[in-house]
Amino acid sequence: MTLTAVPSQSLVTPQLEISGGRRLSGDLRVSGAKNSALVLMAACLLSEDGLRLRNVPPLTDIAAMGEILAALGVGVRRGGDWIEMDGRTLNKSAPPYELVNSLRASFFCIGPLLARLGVARVPLPGGCQIGTRPVVEHVKGLKALGAQVTIEHGVVSAVVPGRGHRLSGGRIHMDCPSVGATETLMMAAVLADGETVIENAALEPEVVDLAGLLIAMGARIRGAGTPSITIVGVDRLHGADYAVIPDRIEAGTFLLAAAITRSTLRVSPVIPEHLGAVLTKLEEAGALLEADGTAMTISAETINAVDLRTQPFPGFPTDLQAPFMSLLATAKGTSVITENIFENRLQHVAELQRMGAAIRMQGNTAFIEGVHRLSGAPVQGSDLRASAAMVLAGLAAEGITRVQGLEYLDRGYADFEGKLNAVGASIRRHGG
Ligand code: EPZ
Repeated sequence: MTLTAVPSQSLVTPQLEISGGRRLSGDLRVSGAKNSALVLMAACLLSEDGLRLRNVPPLTDIAAMGEILAALGVGVRRGGDWIEMDGRTLNKSAPPYELVNSLRASFFCIGPLLARLGVARVPLPGGCQIGTRPVVEHVKGLKALGAQVTIEHGVVSAVVPGRGHRLSGGRIHMDCPSVGATETLMMAAVLADGETVIENAALEPEVVDLAGLLIAMGARIRGAGTPSITIVGVDRLHGADYAVIPDRIEAGTFLLAAAITRSTLRVSPVIPEHLGAVLTKLEEAGALLEADGTAMTISAETINAVDLRTQPFPGFPTDLQAPFMSLLATAKGTSVITENIFENRLQHVAELQRMGAAIRMQGNTAFIEGVHRLSGAPVQGSDLRASAAMVLAGLAAEGITRVQGLEYLDRGYADFEGKLNAVGASIRRHGG
């Protein structure tokens, strides 16, 4: 008799095992936006009063940001979907290196620390699977506000020279509409002396959400959501109680889960203006969408090929490029997807090919010839959106798909498999 050693759960690489081919039905709840909550948390450093954020998603990145703020001396309390931060006790200008390494978003601390303390030392966020992720625009803008900035040994050190350590307002023209740089410079400028104008600013909803919070804290900002943001500095900011916007990328991922399984699902809350390009592409592909209040109902029977190119907002979002490619791998006809934002965000193509997808690559463009049915296989997610894309492909595939790369998935999606199982999917998590 041959004994097959069954590795204990702790030895199994964390993975999701998906039994595909099932139709979904019911309601999916969208959590607060990860890419808003993280930068809103950093804004607590700007004030000596308490900041309370609601509709905060329960994600590993959120917990990591809380640890970083606590290490800076901020009092942090978490509840169900809320988090309270007390910036009064801020007593450090440099987050600990070992914590920062685990969370790129910790770089959001540099702007508020510099504005509040006149000094900040934050390790470079560094590259990741999808690209080099430079911070040139952040550094250029901080210098335009009067900071001296040096980068040595992987650490960005910024200081405001002279008495009073207060930044001075100025005109900043960004070479590219960087989301993170726009947010960093907004937080630096709100306490600066005088007026700041940020030209070629990012238009993303998360930028507008940050402006909403800062204005609630007493900042003077106009033009958020347009390419030109004007900020008049104030002496201090007070606390606020503020709700994070819904996560448009999670919402889009759930809409795609309905489309790829040819199901009808109700997703809420959804703010249609935050997903305009995605909703347009879904309808162009043949999905039927119906908005009712803050909910969006999607149904899909036949999905046809469409072409898409990722662009800064309001163009098609790069964060939904991989999930949408999974859908188009099962569409009728040949689609063309071009990734224009990140230099290395097409690694999921090889994984989809393992599942039988017919995709040909040419530079940053993928030509996807839809197949009738994908086949389940063991696959790997290379960033949080690629991991989600592989789960979507598994929902539609024949047989069993095993998706590794949950360390990425869990950073961006709260209880992803739990939410999908509640509407009829069959997903089991193994190994943590
Ligand atoms: C934010 O990253 C999001 N992350 C990303 O979401 C999202 O993909 C990205 O915006 C684009 O929408 C958070 O908000 C935490 P960028 P960010 O600066 O701010 C280049 C996810 O999956 N660039 O707008 O880092 C850069 O190389 C993540 O949730 C420069 O060239 O994005 C990239 O090609 C992934 N110079 C492009 O701009 C700079 O100084 C977009 O980067 C800065 C950026």
